[in-house]
Amino acid sequence: MGQPALILKEGTSRSRGREAQHANITAALVVAESVKSSLGPKGMDKMLVDGFGDVTISNDGATILDEMDVQHPAAKMMVEVAKTQDDEVGDGTTTAVVLTGELLSRAQALIDKDVHPTVIVDGYQAAAEKAQEFLEKIAIKVDPSDKAMLKKIAEVAVASKLLAEHKEYVADLAVKAVLQVAEKSGTGYKADIDDVKVEKKPGESLTDTTIIQGVLLDKEVVHPGMPRRVEKAEIALLNCPLEVEKTEFDAKLNIQSPDQMKAFLDEEENILRNMVEKIASRGADVVICEKGIDDVAQHFMSKKGILAVRRVKQSDMEKLAKATGGRILSNLEDLKADDLGHANLVEERKVSDDKMTFVEGCKNPKAVSILVRGGTERVVDEAERAIHDALSVVRDVVVDPRIVAGGGAPEAEVSRLLRKHSEKMSGREQLAIQAFAEALESIPMILAENAGMDPIDAVVELRSKHQGRQIWTGIDPFKGKVADLSKLEVYEPLAVKMQALKSAGEAASMMLRIDDVIAASKAKEGKEPPKGPEESAKEEGEGEF
Ligand SMILES: Nc1ncnc2c1ncn2[C@@H]1O[C@H](COP(=O)(O)OP(=O)(O)OP(=O)(O)O)[C@@H](O)[C@H]1O
Ligand SMILES: [Mg+2]
Repeated sequence: MGQPALILKEGTSRSRGREAQHANITAALVVAESVKSSLGPKGMDKMLVDGFGDVTISNDGATILDEMDVQHPAAKMMVEVAKTQDDEVGDGTTTAVVLTGELLSRAQALIDKDVHPTVIVDGYQAAAEKAQEFLEKIAIKVDPSDKAMLKKIAEVAVASKLLAEHKEYVADLAVKAVLQVAEKSGTGYKADIDDVKVEKKPGESLTDTTIIQGVLLDKEVVHPGMPRRVEKAEIALLNCPLEVEKTEFDAKLNIQSPDQMKAFLDEEENILRNMVEKIASRGADVVICEKGIDDVAQHFMSKKGILAVRRVKQSDMEKLAKATGGRILSNLEDLKADDLGHANLVEERKVSDDKMTFVEGCKNPKAVSILVRGGTERVVDEAERAIHDALSVVRDVVVDPRIVAGGGAPEAEVSRLLRKHSEKMSGREQLAIQAFAEALESIPMILAENAGMDPIDAVVELRSKHQGRQIWTGIDPFKGKVADLSKLEVYEPLAVKMQALKSAGEAASMMLRIDDVIAASKAKEGKEPPKGPEESAKEEGEGEF
């Protein structure tokens, strides 16, 4: 009697109600705040240093948050918002996170005014749905094969990145690459940017970034005696090692004479020779192997004039199979002539200090790679991310050919429409919808702020222009003025804006519904080296006795 009932483990912390909400919102706001200043073409970049001292410089919301390695659970949810946005549409990650933050900070103000979180959540959800409806209504339909328009969109995605000065070059590459992998499906197109293989290599300059009609492997030919160039290549794709397999158990061999020793070694050599014979007899003159290739096998192959590459990534093997029409074999015995892939040229070329293998002119013309070059490693890294954004937005428009202008214009317009819509609502729900409208308006405000403009003046001007039905009025950060973005041809995919609304609305609602945080005590960190799975299994086992 009188004993407290312990239902949670010792060290578990718990916070409830407003306290929990407040803590979560604060953590999420810190994250949103940290990326705010990087929004837009005049946004700043972030330098992130990881535990090993490696430096990343980026303007990409998803990358910044990923590298930040946040710990707080609510902050982690913000990171997920960015990730979802990145996975779904590839751009607009900063916008999505900033919007979530704005929604939460306004919700906090409403909670402080005693509006119940569920009312806010309902209002936000209704507002998010309406906002998407309004966006779809104002979107502009375009022709997905209009290259000039696609290029403009890619340029806008790249404009806010480190390599803005080369945006035309990068946009051109992205449009070419995506149109090459796009396929007609029904009345529209489908395109998967995973089909575009992006490899990077520091050196030269960004404008030396090129498209390769085929698959590019960051691997060199294994043996100096092999040819460096094979035309009309017949390619064997293997995921079995070309090595004599080691037995799984230990065995002892008693060798009594040098002859026996020689016979033993000869036998090993024979096995490898037979492997190579088999490959050659099926007509292959190029071998691309996911596993290792023994030195002796390399030697025999070089004698047969076969070009071989080893330890190729599985994802690359799959791309090669798709591109060359070959089949990946896990058993050499199965190799038949019609399993071989075809390419016009397989060649090893020197790129900077390294050698790379180019598989060009593949059977499937849809295979394409981009080789990213640039002054330093950090430049190529950020260039790769910018190319990813450019490829993504072009894909978005090719798949769903609807666009909106940028510069915060659609946000300002949808905000106006939402406010008008909220007039029909009553009481507290109206407050929530208005808060949503205000949060949307903060996007042009932040763009203005980052461009060194006065955000309040900008919003006042925006509002009056939008009242006057100039729906594409937004912020021109380069001139530091309020302008018609459609005249400046600053366009973005509708899909990016829709996804940002969706994920921000959902994440904010999810966070607002939490009123109880029960956190187990942290596992001890840093005191002991991490255990291998066996060791920890042993310890767990011991505990049972
Ligand atoms: N030339 C431009 N003029 C006006 N606004 C622009 C221009 N280029 C980009 N923007 C605006 O900048 C915003 C995008 O900024 P940014 O690319 O930094 O963030 P994001 O796309 O949300 O996230 P991320 O690119 O990091 O995934 C959009 O609102 C876009 O309309
Ligand atoms: Mg962007």
